[in-house]
Amino acid sequence: MNGNREQALEAIYARVRACSRCSLHVGRTHAVPGAGPANATIMFIGEAPGFHEDQQGLPFVGAAGKLLNELLEKAGIERNTVYISNVIKCRPPGNREPAPEEVEACAPYLDQQIDIIKPKVIVTLGRYSMARAFPDEKISVVHGKPRKVGEYIYFPMYHPAAALHQPSLRSIVETDFIRLRELLDGTLVPEEIASPPAIEQLSLF
Ligand code: URA
Repeated sequence: MNGNREQALEAIYARVRACSRCSLHVGRTHAVPGAGPANATIMFIGEAPGFHEDQQGLPFVGAAGKLLNELLEKAGIERNTVYISNVIKCRPPGNREPAPEEVEACAPYLDQQIDIIKPKVIVTLGRYSMARAFPDEKISVVHGKPRKVGEYIYFPMYHPAAALHQPSLRSIVETDFIRLRELLDGTLVPEEIASPPAIEQLSLF
């Protein structure tokens, strides 16, 4: 069963590496499809690969990744047990923010990764990742507060890179990782949010 899921992830990786759905494929060294075990209970979703990720084809291997490793360790979570992906899989030039058409073009890959892994907890790192689940929210309001929507618990956090650029965010991010630990231990209970109605239900026909 798990072998099938690994194979399904590998099939996505092959499609991502060959992808030309948006213009970012032109400048990439490597696409960065995602990494981690198919049976992970926690999935981290960042924004986009940076320089080092583009060089290596792996997520969170640069400065933000180093901080992510430290935060995981403090929370008692082993990096090799979590799945790590990004909203977009190719590096935007100069690390600019992802464009809406790039996010849209890449969305099916991330949706499929979530469907295969079915993590218990989805940790969104940064605004772009949060916006997939909560497009109308502000990260300054919702960070560190787990919410159960349908079958998943979403846990919005600031992006680790934001804590590198803005030292005042560092202790906030550290506290949110401790809250993630509490969620995993069952001492922090997620707020239940009603699932949005299925698209079909919105249809007039
Ligand atoms: N920042 C991200 O959002 N993703 C990475 O993979 C690396 C840095």
